[in-house]
Amino acid sequence: MKTLEPLPYAYTALEPYIDEQTMKIHHDKHHQAYFDKFVKAVEGSPLENKDIKDILKNMSSVPEVIRTIVRNFGGGHYHHSFFWTVLKKDVPFSGEVAKAIEGKWGSFEKFKEEFNAKALGVFGSGWTWLVVNHHGTGQGHGGSLEIMNTPNQDSPLSEGKTPVLCLDLWEHAYYLKYQNRRPEYVENFWKIINWKQVNSYYLEAKK
Ligand SMILES: [Fe+2]
Repeated sequence: MKTLEPLPYAYTALEPYIDEQTMKIHHDKHHQAYFDKFVKAVEGSPLENKDIKDILKNMSSVPEVIRTIVRNFGGGHYHHSFFWTVLKKDVPFSGEVAKAIEGKWGSFEKFKEEFNAKALGVFGSGWTWLVVNHHGTGQGHGGSLEIMNTPNQDSPLSEGKTPVLCLDLWEHAYYLKYQNRRPEYVENFWKIINWKQVNSYYLEAKK
């Protein structure tokens, strides 16, 4: 029986920016439901023991009859697992990824401005991402940073892009504490980014 990984830190770890109750419901109910439905969908199929990242990278190889379920619930599972790892309080903006961001956007502030505008522009449910776009370089070989949105649980991986940072913009991610105040949630996100982890993802993506 497969089980969902626990949250990699305490439910209170991101207080006061993301509250304990939101983290509990987000991980133990929402993420758990994505995980359970994904596991059930691939049970007994050739995908059962495949890495979720590889599945999302090759959606055309997923049998059509379960493709939508895999996109929604496999995507939901992977994106939440990834999201938990990029959150941590009090980590300074630093490393190669910081240099690359400043190189591309001119300054951290300009980068933040574009990311926020994208996040506030998500209509309905979706995610905002910082990704490495490998276009023209072959997946996993170099590429440059870009900010993008995906609707629902659609994955940047399915577009040949590697996530290095993301923000969950489904209402379940912030509604208990922020209700309709998405801008406040987005602003507080900048206080809980684990830049050390983001830097590792960036270095890995650029290899
Ligand atoms: Fe979520």
